[in-house]
Amino acid sequence: MPTLTVQLGTRSYSIHIGAGLLARAELLEGQLQKDAVCIITDDNVAPLYLHKLSQALAAFAPRSLVLPHGEPHKNWRTLDFIFRFLLKNSFGRDATLIALGGGVVGDLTGFAAACYQRGISHIQIPTTLLAQVDSSVGGKTAINHRHGKNMIGAFHQPLAVIADTATLTTLPPREVSAGLAEIIKCGLISDEDFFLWLETHVQELLALDPETCVHAITRACEIKVAIVSEDEREQGRRALLNLGHTFGHAIESALGYGEWLHGEAVAAGIAMAADMAVRMDWLKAAEYRRICRLLERAGLPCKPPASLTPMRILEHMRRDKKVRSGRLRLVLPKGIGQAVVSDDFDVKMLGDTLAGRPV
Ligand code: NAD
Ligand code: GLY
Repeated sequence: MPTLTVQLGTRSYSIHIGAGLLARAELLEGQLQKDAVCIITDDNVAPLYLHKLSQALAAFAPRSLVLPHGEPHKNWRTLDFIFRFLLKNSFGRDATLIALGGGVVGDLTGFAAACYQRGISHIQIPTTLLAQVDSSVGGKTAINHRHGKNMIGAFHQPLAVIADTATLTTLPPREVSAGLAEIIKCGLISDEDFFLWLETHVQELLALDPETCVHAITRACEIKVAIVSEDEREQGRRALLNLGHTFGHAIESALGYGEWLHGEAVAAGIAMAADMAVRMDWLKAAEYRRICRLLERAGLPCKPPASLTPMRILEHMRRDKKVRSGRLRLVLPKGIGQAVVSDDFDVKMLGDTLAGRPV
């Protein structure tokens, strides 16, 4: 079983990856207290995995809260629903929240833990491919706002991450593809060999071949762990993990949360960032085609939705968290396996990318 460590001094923690880990309560040895555990999940995941996890943790008498599923519920209302449950059930500062689900449950639970009684512990048990390779790791927690994606949140690291790869078998194919977008992003920003490996293994990944999945999840987590251990609060290098996200978040919030999956919006965003990089001579046209081909083979879009005008996307991009002194900063690939954050681009080029004009 691969185990990685996020090195953050006293807040360091392990990421366990493998099949059947939901039943392995010993992985949380010493991290839970009886009558002070609350499992938070959603109404798709609960019928599949809540009983199994509750049984594994029976010695701690966990209580559970089931949220409505999906991105439209990653908001203030659901967060308040969590707080009311914790308060009504007299959870104190010794409580530990366990997020069992995808990135939506993970981000909500992490943010609730960051705020409840000025901060309590939480553990991430991600059950989507996207959450296993990205959202459960690194301590970013947030809810969406009508005016912008993930705009209200906190950095709050979990005590542990347990990625049971067997849970992926019940994931709808569209969600598997969405997770692949974040894996492809990892190869693109820092590991050309991994990108090449993905090109040769994308079919096995779509088919959820167990060994191939464990390898891809482990490598994507290794890449993220190295970056987060160096730059927890995104003062520098961590911004690279946002490749495709300035475009992607704009697509998600402009469409209304939930119409496109997060991973789908990120995929279109990666292709748009690559298009910009070609215009800037940082990427060859052939490399751009390679990137789009891999995204398409993974079942992902390479263009923004036709219903959004370039102006509408730009309007939402201007609210990005990377904006400094009113200047938009973009993460752009420099070849395959390297990326940079830059505000040094011609606005006309961005307009051409958004309008889909030929390079
Ligand atoms: P999600 O949580 O909405 O899960 C996708 C769908 O799959 C949901 O309907 C869920 O109920 C269902 N599901 C979950 N596990 C399942 C399983 N094993 N079998 C069957 N169905 C299952 O979406 P997601 O793609 O996991 O996460 C996207 C969210 O993560 C976005 O809100 C995004 O902003 C956030 N995110 C956060 C970070 C971070 O660093 N915190 C990083 C990337 C993404
Ligand atoms: N998903 C981007 C980050 O964790 O920084």
